[in-house]
This record gives sequence, C-alpha cells and structure tokens, in this order.
Amino acid sequence: MRFLVTGAAGFIGSNFCRLVLATSQHEVVGFDSMTYAANFQSISDLLGRRMTFVEGEINDVPLLEKHMRNVDVVVHFAAESHNDLSIANPDAFVHSNYLGTFNVVKLATKLAKRLHHVSTDEVFGDLDLNETTEFTEESNYKPSSPYSATKAGSDMLVRSWARTFGLRATISNCSNNYGPRQHAEKFIPRQITEVLMGRTMKLYGNGSNVRDWIHVEDHARGVLKIIEKGVVGETYLIGGRCQMSNIQVALQLAKILQVPREKIEFVTDRPGHDLRYAINPSKFERLIGWGEKGPVPFMVGLKDTVEWYADNSSWWSSQKAEVESRYRSE
Ligand code: NAD
Ligand code: DAU
Repeated sequence: MRFLVTGAAGFIGSNFCRLVLATSQHEVVGFDSMTYAANFQSISDLLGRRMTFVEGEINDVPLLEKHMRNVDVVVHFAAESHNDLSIANPDAFVHSNYLGTFNVVKLATKLAKRLHHVSTDEVFGDLDLNETTEFTEESNYKPSSPYSATKAGSDMLVRSWARTFGLRATISNCSNNYGPRQHAEKFIPRQITEVLMGRTMKLYGNGSNVRDWIHVEDHARGVLKIIEKGVVGETYLIGGRCQMSNIQVALQLAKILQVPREKIEFVTDRPGHDLRYAINPSKFERLIGWGEKGPVPFMVGLKDTVEWYADNSSWWSSQKAEVESRYRSE
C-alpha cells in the first residue's frame, strides 16, 4: 500500500514512517507544513525509493488533493499538539486541528480513500486522582483545553463523515507518548534536556498529576496494525497500561541521569491542568496481540530515551532556547 502521512516530520509521524519502512513493504509520502514542531532531521535519513516528502499545509486543498490522489491510505497525524501553547495561542489549533481535519476528511471522502485519524485520550477530559476508573471506547467526550477541544471536534468530523458520507475511516485515541525525537517543549524531553544543560527539572503544581505512558514505537505499531487489520468504522483506544504521576517520572529520570532529587523544582501550575488520564486498552490489545514481548517496559524505554537525547544534542539544541524563552514569558 501507499500511505500519505500528514505530520510526518513531527514526533509520532516520523517514528511511524520509520517503523513502516523498517517492518513492511508499504510506501510513504510524508506531508508536513514544517511548523516549529517539525524537525527535518527526523526524516531526512528515510527519504529515498520508498519514501518521498512534500512540504505542505493540510489546509492547502489543491496541494493536498494532488498528493492524496496517488495513495491508498491517509494516515492523519498533523496537528498542533501542545496544551500549554493552546492556552497561549488557540487560533493555530482551530486552524490545523479542526479546519485542517475538515479538509482531510472532505478530500478522503471525495477521493474514496481509507483514512486513519490519530487522536488523543484527552478528548475524554480527566479522571479523579484517587480512583481507578479508566477511559473506554464508550466514554463521553469532555475536553478541557483548546487543544483537546479541537481534537474532539476533529474526531466528530471523522465520525459524522463516516456515517453520513460513507468515509472509510478508523480512529485511535492514544495516551501520552515518549521516546526519541519528541519536541523539547514536552514533559519528558524538557526535563531531560534541562538536566543535561545543568539546570533543574520543572514540575507543574505539586507533581501529582498522572499520565498513562506508552513508547512511541508501540503507538506506531498500533496504528499500523489498525490500518492493516482494524475494522473500518471502529475506534480503538491505544495505551500501554503505565500510569505514573509526574513526580514518579521525575524521580526515575533523576536516578537515570544520576542527579539528586533537589534537581526537581516545582513551578506554577498549568491553568485547567487535567488531573489523570488512564486508558483501558482491552479492545486494542485483542487486535495487536502484543505477544510475549509486550509493550516496551517504561524503565527500559525511559533509559533509552535519556541516552538518545544525550547522544543527539544537535537534534534538540536549536529548539531548546526558544522553548525555554517561551516558558519564561507564559
Ligand atoms: P508534533 O507536534 O510533534 O507533530 C505534529 C506535526 O504536524 C508537526 O511536524 C507539524 O509541522 C505538523 N503540522 C501541524 N499543523 C499542520 C498543518 N496545518 N499542515 C501540515 N502539517 C501540520 O505532534 P505529535 O506528538 O507527533 O502528535 C501527532 C498526532 O498524534 C497529533 O494529532 C496528536 O494530537 C496525536 N497524539 C499525540 C500524543 C502524544 O503524546 N504526543 C498522544 C496521542 C495522540
Ligand atoms: O494524553 C495524550 C496527550 O499527551 C497528547 O494528546 C498531547 O499531544 C501531548 O502533548 C500530551 O499532553 P500532556 O499535556 O499530557 O503532555 P505534556 O508533555 O505537556 O505534559 C505531561 C504532564 O507533565 C502534564 O501533567 C503536565 C506536566 N508538565 C509538563 C511540562 C511541559 C510539567 O509538570 N512540567 C513541564 O515542564
């Protein structure tokens, strides 16, 4: 098959392209508008016979149509993805996440292409800290930030076009990803790079908020499996059954980076900060069948991720100053 991968130069999109080229015979056309979040170094070594790249906006309908015509499947990762930025500058999120997906959905319907829409568990809002409840495919949508609201809207567009116009689509809602090539604005890379630069980790509030972590390679494997074996019309919740509070993650990072816990600083909390996310991935697990190996164990993946950032400062150094100056001004 030939895939059009939107958001191919971002964190998850680039890791997905890497996995597809390494483990299958599928071909890839990467499509990305190269916002601040993209990094060409994440895909430059992949370009060749089975992968090409187009710099383009998903809201540029003629360009998107031209490239969508020549593929079998559209894998839609492109989005503004950072909650903090959506609070400071929501317009870009409506533009890319909602209107951009509107264009992707309309064109995929017009050209009768199969669409896989990549979404997030944040569309379901948050869960109490002291409970054991989890999100399922039946959970109600209750987004809290401009980011999650625009992702929720994008899911609704996909669902309604599937029902009303016969769009052949699947949706996945995944929990927090970590791993190589994640922008330094996000929690785990921010803390690693702060310590590598001799500074303190920065935890919002008291660090008790909980996220459900999955290695980006496992998310990418999940998306590929849904495209190859998933049922059109279905939604799958992807997660790795790994709930951790932010302070627990920071303490593990301190251990791996061999710095004392005094390197953890508590800073002003994020407005509207979601307390806890937790995925019940039973339906997805029946599809993926992890096998004996299972998903990447968090401590193994975290250690590899720290090593990747330590070995690849040229990948993140150019974004780091801009990220920290943005955080200082918020
Ligand atoms: P990212 O910010 O690293 O990458 C997004 C990419 O999309 C960037 O390369 C950017 O240039 C591109 N892009 C943005 N707007 C565009 C537009 N209008 N036209 C073309 N390209 C555009 O994000 P990510 O973490 O890789 O997330 C990818 C997708 O996965 C998003 O849809 C996000 O909502 C979803 N998701 C992310 C996570 C996570 O933990 N990071 C978890 C679940 C779901
Ligand atoms: O759940 C999936 C979502 O996970 C994705 O849809 C989003 O695209 C992705 O960015 C992520 O959203 P979060 O808001 O959970 O991720 P972030 O890395 O921004 O923050 C993770 C947690 O860490 C959250 O509780 C806020 C906290 N945090 C974050 C930063 C950047 C800190 O304590 N300090 C920080 O410096």
